[in-house]
Amino acid sequence: MLEKKMSITDLQAKKGVEKITAITAYDALMAEIFDAEVDVILVGDSLKMSFGGENETLGASMEEMLYHTKAVCRGVKHSFVLADMPFGSYATQKLALKNALRFYKNTAADAIKLEVDIQKLPIVRALCEEGIAVVAHIGLKPQFARFDGGFKVKGKSEKEAQELLECALAMQEAGVCSVLIEGVKSQVAEKITKALSVPTIGIGAGNACDGQILVWSDAFGFFSAFKPKFVRTYCDGRAMLKEAIRAYAKDVKSLQFPNENESY
Ligand code: KIV
Repeated sequence: MLEKKMSITDLQAKKGVEKITAITAYDALMAEIFDAEVDVILVGDSLKMSFGGENETLGASMEEMLYHTKAVCRGVKHSFVLADMPFGSYATQKLALKNALRFYKNTAADAIKLEVDIQKLPIVRALCEEGIAVVAHIGLKPQFARFDGGFKVKGKSEKEAQELLECALAMQEAGVCSVLIEGVKSQVAEKITKALSVPTIGIGAGNACDGQILVWSDAFGFFSAFKPKFVRTYCDGRAMLKEAIRAYAKDVKSLQFPNENESY
């Protein structure tokens, strides 16, 4: 359990010392439950898929991400809050600066995350120079799934592995505080982790990364549309809630709820 608010310095100091733990949250209710139990809480645009019923993340808007980030920040006292910049919100340097500043001025997020390849280097550099803490998301980038023709594991070829390593190093040089590696061959993620001085957080990238993140509805068995190979389910949340909702409906139908103590 965290006893004080996790800062960037605290997070970076974990590299090579202890693993970083991270999970998504999209509202104050869940954020408050997860707070202090994990180092990082990500307000991910995965909310479009896990809660919005969409099959991609591209529809997330700045307004939605700001709304969810504000809600999460209200529930968090200790964990480091990371917020996703939605698709299109950092298409140009000007737009990226404008929208990143909106996150900083309107929410208490500790850092923002951008899905990047080497072409985004000038944008990432400009944000870092402005004093905005940036996490670079590399590898499988869900915001590029339509362009890529699906959610494809990266780093399978020598060329792709080399490009990922060079991108991670360039992002570090530009000033990012951490690199999130998604859907990348374990050996490639390991090589990147060893080459960087900033911590890496992995999802579907093996256990050599400096930390791990999961989408909460996957981790706790609420999302049933599909289960990626990298997900470990820690409880059957869906079955638990189904049982509870059925019990409630049964009590109402059978006049067992509310009883006298539950009435005015
Ligand atoms: O949006 C999200 O939840 C993410 C994680 C998959 C890392 O980016």
